[in-house]
Formats: sequence, structure tokens, C-alpha cells
Amino acid sequence: MDINSLISQYIEEIKATQIEAFQDKAAEVERFRVRFLGRKGVMNELFEQFKQLPGDQKKNVGIALNQLKTAAQDKVEEFKRFVEQAPELNDTHDLSMPADFLTAGSRHVLSVTMNEIAEIFARIGFTIEDGPEIEDDYHVFTALNFASDHPARDMQDTFFIEKEPNVNKPTDVLLRTHTSGVQVRVMERQKPPIRVIMPGRVFRNEAISARAHCIFHQVEGLYIDKKVSFVDLKQTLLYFAKEMFGPDTQIRLRPSYFPFTEPSAEMDISCNICGGKGCNICKGTGWLEILGCGMVDPNVLEASGIDSKEYSGFAFGMGVERMAMLKYQIRDLRLYFENDLRFLHQFDNIV
Ligand code: PHE
Repeated sequence: MDINSLISQYIEEIKATQIEAFQDKAAEVERFRVRFLGRKGVMNELFEQFKQLPGDQKKNVGIALNQLKTAAQDKVEEFKRFVEQAPELNDTHDLSMPADFLTAGSRHVLSVTMNEIAEIFARIGFTIEDGPEIEDDYHVFTALNFASDHPARDMQDTFFIEKEPNVNKPTDVLLRTHTSGVQVRVMERQKPPIRVIMPGRVFRNEAISARAHCIFHQVEGLYIDKKVSFVDLKQTLLYFAKEMFGPDTQIRLRPSYFPFTEPSAEMDISCNICGGKGCNICKGTGWLEILGCGMVDPNVLEASGIDSKEYSGFAFGMGVERMAMLKYQIRDLRLYFENDLRFLHQFDNIV
């Protein structure tokens, strides 16, 4: 076939080529480009023939060759634009493939537990209050009736941020060692009746082990009104224990000491693992210690401007890590903070 008819045949072929006919579009566009414009492609091959032509034919064939080249280039451009603009039409996508699996995040077991505790108290009218993690000595110790030489203020327990050596001042700045300081902040800004739950993170300078951590969480409770008595404290906490650990749960209160409550008690629940018979979790006693509580000391009420002759109240504070340990039988505190997905995913289905 002579070169002129070859060229016009190729031009017809290029015009007739439609991208819709391509199966694997991006790959076939590239194959098309290489076929016409590649180093060993149609254009170069025809150009070799063109060089052999006698001089009088070169002009017309040259024009035709240029038309062919432009047609091929334009077509390649058109195809590329199509592939870029409509990648979803590119058949390399298998539309029958199952959709990507999206993993949903889930709440941390400590958040779940804190929410559950707050929920249980919300049902009997407690609202949620918040306070700062970076606190001053006044709110964490002084206003809570801690003597100025109380060992809890010691460097060994408390992370201080700003402190003069050898003296304790209400203005010292520290990381709160318990959420009880929020009680003071609430009493400063609210008049009784007060019925609040205060969840939050606390800090103590302790070596990290399976049973202790320097960061942990507490939920504090405070109830102040006229004629609040120890009976109210006991019934409230019994209600909580049954809601949290099941209707058969029993409680017992043991005398204890906190500077800010009088009388003070520690509360145990019947062991929910052995049902009170004695096991290694309750160390054979049948009881598990879960919180500290007591009647708010009149000194604490007065320090925050509440008349202790008119009002009385109770307070309690519990460790969230310990609650979750008992409820979900977690053996090592460090698991909470290691972000090991094998641990975290076990709690995906509890809300
Ligand atoms: N703040 C105490 C603690 O951290 C717990 C507590 C709170 C005790 C309220 C009595 C009343 O151990």
C-alpha cells in the first residue's frame, strides 16, 4: 500500500476509535499512544518511509503526516481528559466489589464507667459539675479541713507546680490529688440544696504498678440540704451499688477517717465475683472496698459560706479504675493507659 493511502487509513482509524470501547481504560489509552506516537510507533515508522521518498512527493506526504500526528495527539489528549474526569467510569473499578470496611471508634472503658456512674446518680436528681485539674492548695486541702502539716500535702504524694520549700500556703499550685476540691468550688458558687456528681482525673506521685498509677479518675458526690443524715448517705449508696453491680449486691460501712467528713466511712460491696463466699479477688473476705464517704464536716461547710446549723450534707468519692476493674474483671491498672487495641476492643459493645 502506498504511503498516502496508509496515512488516510490511519487517520480514519483514529477518528473511529472511541474510548467507550476500551476495557481497561487508562491502560488502553497508553497502549493507543504508544502505538501511534511511541518510539517504534506508526508515526516514526511512516517517517522512515517518508525519508526515502523522492523530493517532489515530500511536500504533500509531509502535510498528510502532520495531519496524522495532530489527529493522534488530539485523540490521546481527549482520552486522557476522559479518564481523569470520570475515573469512576474506568473499568478497572469493579462495581460489584464489597464496600470498604470502616471501623467505628468506641469509648474507652473508663469513660463508659464514668458515664454509667453519672447516669445512675442522674436518675435520682444529681447533676454533673466540673473543676480544674491544676488546682491550688486552698481548694484541695485547706478548705477541706486538712491541717497545714497533714501528710497528704507531702511532696511524696502531691505533684506541686509552684511551691515555696518548707511551708504550705493556700496559694501553692498543684495537680489535684482528689476530686474533693470540686466540692469546695461548687459550694462557693451554689447555694443549697446541692446535689452534684463530679467526675474527673486526679494525680498522685506514686510508682506505677498493676495496682497503682500516678494518673487515675474519681467520681465525687456531694449532697447538701436541710436535715440530710447518715441514713440518706447509706440509702443513696445502697441504691448506687445495686444499680452498678446488680440487685443482689449488699453493702457494709466501716468507720474511717477523712479530714473533710465526720463521721467518715469506707464502703465495701459484697464480692460480685464469688457472691460473698470468698475468692482471690476479695482476698477471701467476701467484700470489696469501693469508696470513701461521710457527713460533710461542719468546718468545710463554714469555710465555703454555708451555715452548718441550718444545713448538713454527705459526700463520697470513688475510684473509676477500681469500679471498672471490679465490674469487668480487669486485673492490671496499666492496661487502661497502654492503648493496646486488643484490650480496648473488648469493650466495643458496652455503651
Ligand atoms: N477524697 C477521698 C479520697 O480521695 C475520698 C472521699 C471523698 C472521702 C468524699 C470522703 C468523702 O480518697
